[in-house]
Amino acid sequence: MKTHKLFLAPCADLTTPALRREIRRLSKDVILFSEMISASSLMRGGLRNDYLVKKHEFDDPISFQLIGNDPAIMARAAEKLEENMLYSVDINMGCSAPEIRARGWGSALMADRVLASKIVRECRKKVKTLSVKCRAGFERSDYDNLFSFVKMLKDEGADFVSLHPRASDMAFKRSADWSLTERLVAEKIIPVIGNGDIKTAKEALVRLESSPEGIMIGRAAVKMPWIFAEIDAVSESKSYSVNIEDSAINILSGIEELLPVEIRESRILKYCVYFCQNLKFGHALFTEIRRNPFSSAELIRAYFERNPVERIIDK
Ligand SMILES: Cc1cc2nc3c(=O)[nH]c(=O)nc-3n(C[C@H](O)[C@H](O)[C@H](O)COP(=O)(O)O)c2cc1C
Repeated sequence: MKTHKLFLAPCADLTTPALRREIRRLSKDVILFSEMISASSLMRGGLRNDYLVKKHEFDDPISFQLIGNDPAIMARAAEKLEENMLYSVDINMGCSAPEIRARGWGSALMADRVLASKIVRECRKKVKTLSVKCRAGFERSDYDNLFSFVKMLKDEGADFVSLHPRASDMAFKRSADWSLTERLVAEKIIPVIGNGDIKTAKEALVRLESSPEGIMIGRAAVKMPWIFAEIDAVSESKSYSVNIEDSAINILSGIEELLPVEIRESRILKYCVYFCQNLKFGHALFTEIRRNPFSSAELIRAYFERNPVERIIDK
């Protein structure tokens, strides 16, 4: 029996309902994640929130992620999200985007432990399961500092953490340092979900040895939404096959059906950048899509007419 859990990593503008629906079609038990949701915007009733906080019938199980740094507002937002019956409400303490850090949100909380602990304490009172996504540190990776930060999360009531083992200052530079994940897992203070740089199903199985509770995959799951199903197949020594044209068309249809009209063009482009990385002539295809995003489905179909051998991936 499978003892580990597989998670989709939260990715702003990418882990949209369109991508989630396709991942769920391919893999029934993966735990999905929403895009990050600003707690202050949610409590102000900001325009995009209806779309961000809607839980669809295909979403279960799913965690919704909050970002912000005001403990009272975060707690109220967590309570509101909890109405959705979630796998967990997650607190973003990992985002390294400069505009997020400048507001004291995301990974900036790793540099303000007093505030971070207050946020966890207040949110804890409002939800059944609370998780936190963090990095290896703020300015630099430092195991002792990471350990005491995670210990604080545990003591304040977090149920599990996911760890992207790069310091915030590293953004996506160099490689994720999985030795930090291994050390944290070995402490057994809290369930740890390992995340960072997993690119293939085979690599995922290696990472599960370091992080047996579970792993989380972001960019590779956008490029290959079938990766979770493939991990299950590979771990059972079964073969796996997927029609990647159908997968892309399903996601593009989902963007049209499930996303507000004003963000569709941007989300088509953001998704297609990743999908095209699967293809031999993906660069040329993406150039065509960029010129005409709303014809992306036809352009993809025409691509596979020209290159039918790329349609099915067999493992
Ligand atoms: C475009 C993009 C958007 C992201 N947005 C979020 C986010 O909203 N919340 C979050 O915690 N992490 C976010 N991340 C970080 C991912 O969840 C993940 O930790 C990181 O990409 C490393 O995992 P990977 O190598 O499997 O992609 C984002 C990453 C990318 C590339």
